Amino acid sequence: MSSSSKDDMGIIGKSPVIRQIRETIRQIAPTNIPVLITGESGVGKELVAHAIHKHSRRATRLMLTVNCGAIPEGILESELFGHQRGAFTGAVETRKGYFELADGGTLFLDEIGELPIAIQVKLLRVLETKEFMRVGGGKVHQVDVRIIAATNKDLEAAVLEGQFRKDLFYRLNAIKIHIPSLRERREDIPLLIEVFTKEFCQENNLKFEGFSPEAIKMLQNRDWPGNVRELKNFVQSVIILERGQRITPEKLTKHLSPVNQPERNLPVPTYLSSEKAERELLYRVLLELKSDMNQIKNLLMQQFYPLHRSGSQPITVYEAPVQPVVEENEKMAKRKEEQVSLRDMERELIRKTLEQCNWNKRKAAQILKISERTLYRKIDEYNLETASN
Ligand SMILES: Nc1ncnc2c1ncn2[C@@H]1O[C@H](COP(=O)(O)OP(=O)(O)O)[C@@H](O)[C@H]1O
Ligand SMILES: [Mg+2]
Repeated sequence: MSSSSKDDMGIIGKSPVIRQIRETIRQIAPTNIPVLITGESGVGKELVAHAIHKHSRRATRLMLTVNCGAIPEGILESELFGHQRGAFTGAVETRKGYFELADGGTLFLDEIGELPIAIQVKLLRVLETKEFMRVGGGKVHQVDVRIIAATNKDLEAAVLEGQFRKDLFYRLNAIKIHIPSLRERREDIPLLIEVFTKEFCQENNLKFEGFSPEAIKMLQNRDWPGNVRELKNFVQSVIILERGQRITPEKLTKHLSPVNQPERNLPVPTYLSSEKAERELLYRVLLELKSDMNQIKNLLMQQFYPLHRSGSQPITVYEAPVQPVVEENEKMAKRKEEQVSLRDMERELIRKTLEQCNWNKRKAAQILKISERTLYRKIDEYNLETASN
């Protein structure tokens, strides 16, 4: 079946790997084999889990999602397997756990890598025998549940480190679906943008003049560390903020934060001379530092001006926020604190840069794009010379 078929399972994409994943889902969905879905956050692991459930014979029954990393360890066992009345303080009545509730259906164990070892043993037991006991209960219960697990961790490494049980890993890993990050399958980006745009406008009854081909190219070249989730949110917010006008690269630039420029996290090319490579590396460190600072500043701005949308205006590090007309004492005090931390960040940025340049001030000033005089003044102001000694 091709990707243009009607039944794309809601999994958009025409890259070979996405086509293959749809094919795998069709093959394995009707069985009861456990499935392990791996990939970075936002690549579509939960979406794939739903597709498996929907294409299985269990489709009319429940699929329950449990985020293993979000439930406090102390109550995880009782959440999964239920408890008997009086099993522990507060267990005022007998309660069914997720396994019982999902009987006949599917249990999606998200962030399985976060499962404590003690619970891993119990999960393995259900997988092998289909039997479990409620916390504080002596009776063995039978269940028929299909397990789909997902993780953004390297489980094999976790096994080697003794954080994850080998036997459970092999059991879950019977069928493995790895979803590559979006930057490893950029050919999917235009189609994703197209479908997200169409869906969003239909749902909200919006008119939209579309992205220009150059704008789409620009989005295709970005790294999207938050993967499809980030792309989807971005597309939706741009449509809203630009009030449905045609999106050109110029308009995009306004909305894109400098956080995930394509040059970020790329290995330094080896053909550069060592001095150039060093400068390149330094430049990247600074870029990251700067974007971290921008993110922090954005957060601060949101605190003061809740209407200010993060990402709608990339804020540069040294730009002072607009003074609000009225400012209560409390806010003033807070601002003071905030200013102090911005100063700290500036100090840190300058110190790091100086360190990387072996305290060559001319070089540091160049990188920081400030005059040498300003740098000397800042060194003085922040007591940096003394700190280095
Ligand atoms: N291939 C895809 N086609 C359509 N939507 C997708 C695709 N991959 C991810 N999404 C969407 O992106 C968001 C994040 O997906 P999700 O399955 O929650 O990711 P994960 O569980 O890996 O963090 C969801 O809104 C999902 O519908
Ligand atoms: Mg998820």
